[in-house]
Amino acid sequence: MNVPSVTLNDGNTIPQLGFGVWQVSTDDITRAVSTALEVGYRHIDTAAIYGNEEGVGKAIFESALKRDDLFVTTKLWNTRHQDARPALEESLTKLGLEQVDLYLIHWPVPTQGHYQQAWESLIELKEAGLTRSIGVSNFLAPHLDQIIDATGVKPTVNQIEIHPSFQQADLVAHTRGHGVEVESYSPLGLGDFDLDAPKKWATELGRTPAQIVLRWHLQHGYIVFPKSVTPERIAENFALFDFELPAEAMADLDACEAGKRCGGDPATFVAPNR
Ligand SMILES: NC(=O)c1ccc[n+]([C@@H]2O[C@H](COP(=O)([O-])OP(=O)(O)OC[C@H]3O[C@@H](n4cnc5c(N)ncnc54)[C@H](OP(=O)(O)O)[C@@H]3O)[C@@H](O)[C@H]2O)c1
Repeated sequence: MNVPSVTLNDGNTIPQLGFGVWQVSTDDITRAVSTALEVGYRHIDTAAIYGNEEGVGKAIFESALKRDDLFVTTKLWNTRHQDARPALEESLTKLGLEQVDLYLIHWPVPTQGHYQQAWESLIELKEAGLTRSIGVSNFLAPHLDQIIDATGVKPTVNQIEIHPSFQQADLVAHTRGHGVEVESYSPLGLGDFDLDAPKKWATELGRTPAQIVLRWHLQHGYIVFPKSVTPERIAENFALFDFELPAEAMADLDACEAGKRCGGDPATFVAPNR
């Protein structure tokens, strides 16, 4: 199955569908990523704070896939905004890679006041060849505006929480207004399928609710990377390219907006000591 590519504003491309590994334990990580690579995923989304970069690296090494055929994202944790180069070097050592494809500032932590400095460091890390592309995560409109105004360099992506019950339409529009791609995290609302629309369209189209929700993300143009440690679900979440949602289904899922966030609010989220 061919996963579409998205061209980023720096000219690099990213597979629109990937595999997320937040909350995948060190016991499960290598098996889960190996399963994903066997199924056909070529884009892995991890982070230093997930504590599983070594296991991701082991699965990549054991897969014997060519480096160029893989897209690996990791993220700078909140305590390292003033210390980005060693932080990325530590991630690269754990991953067993010389370069990641995408390095993100995980959270802006505006109360700390160092995200612009972190962004300036990421620009240097790209120039130094330690990452092919750079971006941000959990950035609200003022945070995006500040780093772009200060440096003239736009992030390639803003990775933000999006699922049918929490769609962030204004932030999506603001992000795209800068020519920045939107990556939707917790795309399945952390596995909460207590919504009628995905269930109804799953029955109608002979798919699963998860597949309906993931198609909704893809058809909105989001870059998406569902997480699962369950082999059947890893395969199910990849089987998305032989059907489409009709406009009526898209409208039904759009109508699920409920302002229901699963994760932290970037305006206040800190968690610096984890
Ligand atoms: N930048 C950030 O701050 C941030 C925050 C959160 C997430 N992320 C990224 O986004 C990725 C995905 O988000 P997420 O992990 O928060 O949650 P998610 O992908 O929305 O949901 C994962 C949950 O859904 C379940 N699930 C997966 N596929 C399913 C299916 N086909 N049917 C039923 N249940 C299914 C999983 O269960 P099992 O694993 O038990 O199968 C797991 O409990 C993360 O792994 C991470 O890479 C980034």
